[in-house]
Amino acid sequence: MYDRYNRKINYLRVSITDRCNLRCTYCMPAEGVKLLDHKDILSFEEITEVITEAVDLGTTKVRITGGEPLVRKGVTMLVKKIATIEGITDFGLTTNGILLARYASDLANAGLHRINVSLDTLDPEKFRTITRGGDIRQVFEGIAAAKKAGLTPVKINCVVRNSSDEPDAKAVREFCLQQGLEARFIHEMSLASGHFTIVENGHGGDCGSCNRLRLTASGMIRPCLFNDLQFSTRELGIREALLQAIEHKPEKGSVNLTGGFHNIGG
Ligand code: 5AD
Ligand code: SF4
Repeated sequence: MYDRYNRKINYLRVSITDRCNLRCTYCMPAEGVKLLDHKDILSFEEITEVITEAVDLGTTKVRITGGEPLVRKGVTMLVKKIATIEGITDFGLTTNGILLARYASDLANAGLHRINVSLDTLDPEKFRTITRGGDIRQVFEGIAAAKKAGLTPVKINCVVRNSSDEPDAKAVREFCLQQGLEARFIHEMSLASGHFTIVENGHGGDCGSCNRLRLTASGMIRPCLFNDLQFSTRELGIREALLQAIEHKPEKGSVNLTGGFHNIGG
């Protein structure tokens, strides 16, 4: 489907949980965030229904996000369900990599095409600081497992504070060249202030060609990361929520005071 600005809407990002096993400083406060009630989180059946409708309306690309998607119990079952939906030509998942070594081959066997892993530094101590406690070795093991499982191209999301020329980003770029990974550099953003820029080497942040809708773990369709608009699949019905989100997708991002990366999935 096309929106009012003639953008072809063919990409759905699906947040399957608001929980995370890390607490990255730029994403969450140290004490965590108020979590959704179990009853407010979409079931696997509901998620699959939303994706099926979205595909019927022209979606060809689906990405699973979080929070951290691999902390949701039964995630490989969900991937398996989604993989059977006819019409998805690109099916990916974004993870912090902590649990990836354990899940990579199961995810590939379930029908996932590829993986994006977040990695902002190669320094174990800095990684521990940024993520408030994460063990970088698990991420390296996860990346290796994803390559081995054929979840390729494995892409690395690197959040940079100032520029992709800063030392940590340079080291990540070098690591990716050596390892056959694709690096993308994302400038640290603030949803509430509306500061966002395009993703270097990626597609995010370019409003004129934005092809995305987002589904939150609680069943809201959000047409823009930098806007408060959201349409409830449970209240409006799935198809109506999707249609209204497409109809109201803003021309450009502005500010978002009602959501965060931890629950909209970046
Ligand atoms: N600015 C930019 N990117 C962010 N992410 C999380 N919070 C922010 C932020 N404030 C990114 C993560 C991950 C993706 C899911 O979202 O680094 O790559
Ligand atoms: Fe978790 Fe990703 Fe947020 Fe870090 S950026 S706290 S890994 S959801």
